[in-house]
Amino acid sequence: MLRINAERLIRDLLHLRAFGSQSSGVVRPAFSQADMQARYWLREQFEQAGLTSRIDGVGNVLGFSPHPGKALLIGSHADSQPTGGWLDGAMGVIYALEIAKSLSESDSYRHLPVDIVALQDEESRFIGCLGAKSLTGVLDDHVVRHATDKDGIRLVDALEAAGLSEVPRERLDRTRYIGFLEAHIEQGPTLEVNSKRIGIVTEIVGVRGLKAIFRGQQNHAGTTMMALRRDASTALYAFAHRINQVFAAHAAERSVWTMGRAKLVPNATSIIPGYAELDLQFRDASESQLDRFTALAYETADEIAKSSLVGVELIEARSPVAPSKMSESLYSYLERSARQHVPNAWIHMPSGAFHDAGVMADFMPSAMLFIPSIGGISHDFAEDSHRDDLILGCQVMATAVVDLLASC
Ligand code: GLV
Ligand code: MN
Ligand code: MN
Repeated sequence: MLRINAERLIRDLLHLRAFGSQSSGVVRPAFSQADMQARYWLREQFEQAGLTSRIDGVGNVLGFSPHPGKALLIGSHADSQPTGGWLDGAMGVIYALEIAKSLSESDSYRHLPVDIVALQDEESRFIGCLGAKSLTGVLDDHVVRHATDKDGIRLVDALEAAGLSEVPRERLDRTRYIGFLEAHIEQGPTLEVNSKRIGIVTEIVGVRGLKAIFRGQQNHAGTTMMALRRDASTALYAFAHRINQVFAAHAAERSVWTMGRAKLVPNATSIIPGYAELDLQFRDASESQLDRFTALAYETADEIAKSSLVGVELIEARSPVAPSKMSESLYSYLERSARQHVPNAWIHMPSGAFHDAGVMADFMPSAMLFIPSIGGISHDFAEDSHRDDLILGCQVMATAVVDLLASC
């Protein structure tokens, strides 16, 4: 069995955490200074693990094994949410690094071809799963040229500032790989609530995002009679309330929706807002449910526009991520390993968060392993996992990697 080095795993996790560390979490959005510094450090570490490493034109850090034969690609993303937890993405990257380091030290397993990757912008600062999309050839140049972040910074300018404008974008060679494995924290409560330590993912939800734009008339909050107002904020509140009603009436078991960002202009107490925006995101494992929500959102926008003096427009706010199925033949190795290490403490489960493995799955067989998140908290500085779960997850992954490659 390939034994990982638990002490080094935790040390490397903490080292990565230091880039952009804030409170108990990290602020390391894609292409920020902290993100790029982390990527240079990762490139060095990948080299130390005996891999040929480079950062590509969208910031992916890749480490290629020199050993012949069909390879496995393992990894996750190294960027964070604007205020993120220290393990989201980072854990899967450091698992990949630790497995590569352990392999390079093992006389029995050194020959196994494992490539590793720290992907870019899974967290959608510019384009969700930018790095995975680029590597798998589904990144649209037109989308790249026009992508901006929430503050209006253009992706092309961020690439230039990061020194990546002239750097080639890597494309994975499909014939090189058996598949992709990603480890991640669960980011929800299922494992903890069920006293399980390993989750083996069967499917990943899809995500869509719409932006509702409300155009009224800015005016004086004291002199404008209620019946005459064209208040963009009131239309926004009515839209949000109605969405909560109609989505709930048509939701599937694991459908979720979030209105996490609103903007009122000019956002002042004594001014009736003339303009407002609301981001509506929804997720489900079925494309037809996502279609249903999309149609309901458009109907609701029409309804609000008709019943108020405010114009309502819906536009696509993010590139959609389609739901995806994980490869059963690949995750059977994770299952076998989990059975060996924690016979009664693993389960199959769907993922309610989206992941790079969802994009990779359209390109090659992909599978994911989860470990528990304390209190089910993620996308927050408070995100954490128990040290023994962090170590166990990496060992389960390492065993699966070796079994899988040995069986090919
Ligand atoms: C990815 O981080 C997501 O929001 O699910
Ligand atoms: Mn993540
Ligand atoms: Mn995330």
